Amino acid sequence: NVLILDFGSQYTQLIARRVRELNIFCEIFPYNHCPTDLSSYKAVILGGSPYSVRSEDALHIDLSHIRGKLPILAVCYGAQYLAHFSGGEVAASNIREYGRANLSYIKENELFFEKVNFHSQVWMSHSDTIKHLPTNGVKLASTNDVENAAYKIEGETTYAIQFHPEVYHSTDGKQMLENFLVKIAQVEQSFTPNAFVDDCVKELQEKVGNDKVVLGLSGGVDSTVAAVLLNKAIGKNLYCIFVNNGLLRKNEFENVLHQYKDMGLNVKGVDASERFLAELTDVEDPETKRKIIGRVFVEVFDEEAHLLKDVSWLAQGTIYPDVIESVSVKGPSATIKSHHNVGGLPDFMKLKIVEPLRMLFKDEVRRVGATLGIDAELLGRHPFPGPGLSIRILGAITPEKVRILQEVDDIFIKGLKEHGLYDKVWQAGAILLPVNSVGVMGDERTYEKVVALRAVESTDGMTADWVHLPYDFLMKISNEIINKVKGVNRVVYDISSKPPATIEWE
Ligand code: XMP
Repeated sequence: NVLILDFGSQYTQLIARRVRELNIFCEIFPYNHCPTDLSSYKAVILGGSPYSVRSEDALHIDLSHIRGKLPILAVCYGAQYLAHFSGGEVAASNIREYGRANLSYIKENELFFEKVNFHSQVWMSHSDTIKHLPTNGVKLASTNDVENAAYKIEGETTYAIQFHPEVYHSTDGKQMLENFLVKIAQVEQSFTPNAFVDDCVKELQEKVGNDKVVLGLSGGVDSTVAAVLLNKAIGKNLYCIFVNNGLLRKNEFENVLHQYKDMGLNVKGVDASERFLAELTDVEDPETKRKIIGRVFVEVFDEEAHLLKDVSWLAQGTIYPDVIESVSVKGPSATIKSHHNVGGLPDFMKLKIVEPLRMLFKDEVRRVGATLGIDAELLGRHPFPGPGLSIRILGAITPEKVRILQEVDDIFIKGLKEHGLYDKVWQAGAILLPVNSVGVMGDERTYEKVVALRAVESTDGMTADWVHLPYDFLMKISNEIINKVKGVNRVVYDISSKPPATIEWE
């Protein structure tokens, strides 16, 4: 088990993902909530930070209970911190160092640089530089601009690097992490999907025993994998509920329900479409839509859960990025849209919570799902927002608009699959705009709806680029939509990236 201390860098989660890719389990803690009991940890990584060690608001940590006791890898801010407060010197650098650089010196016979190419490319992102190494510091590597790009501390297993090994542009970054964790710190590479499934099933059996568990399935990857894991652990004591809010994709409710039953899950489908749509009548504001959908979902779920006797646990498909307590950095609040499915259900349900995936990243959930034999198509599904099509119908929602958007979305998604493009896209969907435009069909003038198609590439939804879908494909899909979907006479393609746009339009 590896401990990663977060000082607010945007890259901290990336470090964790790289460590996990080495089949090594790791956890992220904020620098100021470092666990006091370190007995289960084999190594510590100190992350980067947007702060400067020289400024008054530098983030401080007492390393006395770690240094010399556990192997440490200090990255960027971590490397500067070790230097600045242990007898070295950090100064503002003449040039801000961002982007690619190449190692120009590597100390010979260092385990840390084993199998690393001599001119290896590394990714720099800092504006301070380490002028003098800390007491007992030994230089391990330099670049043309950065003299002390890597160092170690004699007499300790403490290593420090100025560049970011976790970023793909650091070509040998993963090798260095492996050298540090496996060769130097001798951490075992035993965190595999199979091992996770075995451990998790055992833990669930111990935790839940013969109790009954209720779980809300959404059709998405996380809730599905959570359900299959629980099903493996406790079988018929797992009760799944799949609610149709009337804002799912075309035929999604029926198809996915069928799939769940085929997987042997004990699932009840509840069609509450009319109830949701009735509550949403005339509602235009997106945040109000989200709140209503969140509330009605809880009501429906609560009613269904009460029909089950003696349920004591609520299972959720929460994953690691939702639970990592992050170090807040100055700047605008990260909450731009409220995501109704984060935060769970209200206290009045009085159920104990079980979250089998809470330590996994999304890609790990997919790998665990594959190990469990879940269909690859289901595991590869694009993310779909909890409020569904409601936030892709701009303005007030009507059953007719839902029908139009479902048809359009279906043509687009099927088209992506047929043209082998679906898996190249992180998320795709269609948006129904609240404007009519003039068209001509045959000899007749039309005045009908405009739809926008959106397809983005992303890794986590935090940033996204629009996908350069082939023109021929867009032409074909546009024709098909206009010819087949009554009520639409114009199709546009969204070419905005996030930021400054967001993925959804509402
Ligand atoms: P934005 O529009 O914020 O979307 O760039 C980022 C990701 O979040 C999804 N999204 C939501 N998911 N409830 C959800 O469960 C919501 O209210 C919600 N709003 C946006 C969006 O589909 C994208 O994957």
